[in-house]
Amino acid sequence: MNAGNSRAPGVIDEQITRVEARVSELPDRLQAHIERARTIGRELSAIFGVDSLRVDLALAGHDLYRAASDEEMLETATRRGIVPGALDLEQPLMLHGPLAAIWMADEGGVADKEVLDAVQHHTTFAPGLGPLAATVFLADKIEPDKVERRPWLTAVADLAHGGDWKDAVRAYIERLDAELKRQGVTPHPLAMRAFDALGKPVVDA
Ligand SMILES: [Fe+2]
Ligand SMILES: [Fe+2]
Repeated sequence: MNAGNSRAPGVIDEQITRVEARVSELPDRLQAHIERARTIGRELSAIFGVDSLRVDLALAGHDLYRAASDEEMLETATRRGIVPGALDLEQPLMLHGPLAAIWMADEGGVADKEVLDAVQHHTTFAPGLGPLAATVFLADKIEPDKVERRPWLTAVADLAHGGDWKDAVRAYIERLDAELKRQGVTPHPLAMRAFDALGKPVVDA
């Protein structure tokens, strides 16, 4: 429906309106998180030189399935033709990004692959993603409430505000990995592959 013109501001505005109608049905605390992430997304878009409207569209829709139950996510995934892997069955929450991307493509009329990829991989990041997806990823992670709950995110926010999205994404994955190891949780393989793809490790601050 948006062939050839899917990145035009008017088209994106329309898509954001469609996504916002769905967001308005989500729990208040989730809506508030989405709002905070969108605010940070605008700041980071200017810093990283990416299209703030496309970032805003991705952030508006990134958590559409965040409040769904495990059963609902597994059932929706199966209905959408996703065969849940062992990790998805163990942590169905990992499906909330992929399901949101499917909703945005099918119901939201979004054809912009970078926006859909950013939504799909906003939890773990993934190899091969660029600055738009990184902006979405980082805005979701360094919104003020999350930084308050996890003080180590301040270092990630500082790196992001310094303008190097690769450094900031690597630092996030590295520090989350350390946190998960302390908790005895296996880090997600996509995050590990993304970390390797982004290059050199960050020297711990
Ligand atoms: Fe999320
Ligand atoms: Fe989020």
